[in-house]
Amino acid sequence: MKKTVRDVEWQGRTAVCRCDFNVPLDGSTITDDTRIRASLPTIQYLAEHGAKVILMSHLGRPKGEPKPELTLAPVAERLSQLLGKDVKFLKSEQVVDDEVRRGAEALEPGQVALLENVRYRKEEEKNDPEFAKELAGLGDVFVQDAFGTSHRAHASTTGIASYIPAVSGFLIEKELKFLGEAVDSPERPFAAIMGGAKVKDKLPVIVNLLSKVDMLFIGGGMSYTFSKVQGYEIGKSLFDEEGSALIPEIMKKAEENGVKIFTPVDAVMADEFAPDSPHAVYDIDKMDPDKMGMDIGPKTIELYTAELAKARTVVWNGPMGVFEMDAFAEGTKAIADCLADLDGTTIVGGGDSAAAAAKFGVADKMTHISTGGGASLEFLEGKELPGIACLDEK
Ligand code: 3PG
Repeated sequence: MKKTVRDVEWQGRTAVCRCDFNVPLDGSTITDDTRIRASLPTIQYLAEHGAKVILMSHLGRPKGEPKPELTLAPVAERLSQLLGKDVKFLKSEQVVDDEVRRGAEALEPGQVALLENVRYRKEEEKNDPEFAKELAGLGDVFVQDAFGTSHRAHASTTGIASYIPAVSGFLIEKELKFLGEAVDSPERPFAAIMGGAKVKDKLPVIVNLLSKVDMLFIGGGMSYTFSKVQGYEIGKSLFDEEGSALIPEIMKKAEENGVKIFTPVDAVMADEFAPDSPHAVYDIDKMDPDKMGMDIGPKTIELYTAELAKARTVVWNGPMGVFEMDAFAEGTKAIADCLADLDGTTIVGGGDSAAAAAKFGVADKMTHISTGGGASLEFLEGKELPGIACLDEK
């Protein structure tokens, strides 16, 4: 068991807390503050227990250079609104310098400050020990609460833990509880729904889940690769050549483990990849060679939702179609609605499926929506997350 913020006496001590404030921006406007809200319980706990709180995060991929459009200034402002108190933005292109150190020392117990984007420094992604030491030097205890970045071994996510005591925050605890319990001790039947474009990207997750789930539903862009391997025409639909070679192995393992794999029986095909493209429904054995698959069809929706309704635990990762375009959103919406009504545990693995649940207004009906895209995938692959492995044991 890893130590948590509850295991530390905070009064008067300084917490250096890694959050994942990598939020979507439109100019300097934050368009979705879910990740900021998800970090509030830890920040509030630290402040209420008398800690001086120094927050740090990356934003985007500035590649080791100070890029003004990726400043964390808008996050400091939003955090101040959400916490109802001033969050001091310790602005420096160097992330840590003498002025930042003075700002950190001047904090009073209960006060909160935010450093500039840690990826302004190229040493961050290299997990450079000197930069990790600079960050550690700002405080007494490292608090890891950036679940979404816990699959990265960077200076602010793992390196820092070599220099000061390291504990987890509440978001990490919550993510591990929901994702971990779903995968390790699910109420059965246990179903996984996998979508998205590339078989190759999802393959390690599928392979790991094949030894755990009872049913596996394939949708989205990668389903056409499955269809082609099964001998069907897929026209101009996405085809993942590299991933396709691995499908027979998946099918074999599923059979050995008694896992039922469901692939689409029909699809909505369009002339081109455009929101207003003419489109129609085709059975999977009558696909049009000149068109491309954009969504699962109504028969697939009926089959998937009927089978999913029997599940008691569902993990969903990846949309069923191009849900960003209204004409091709039906399949993803049907799955989202089905999970919202399910009498069981529903876990949404971040990224696109989280955006879909939000778009269709059912986010609050899911048991848990992970704040990690890549991190939740690696967790579901059964990999150790370096940002969590580095924390102190109880
Ligand atoms: C994410 O959005 O998945 C995390 O913040 C990690 O970002 P990264 O893929 O740029 O490391």
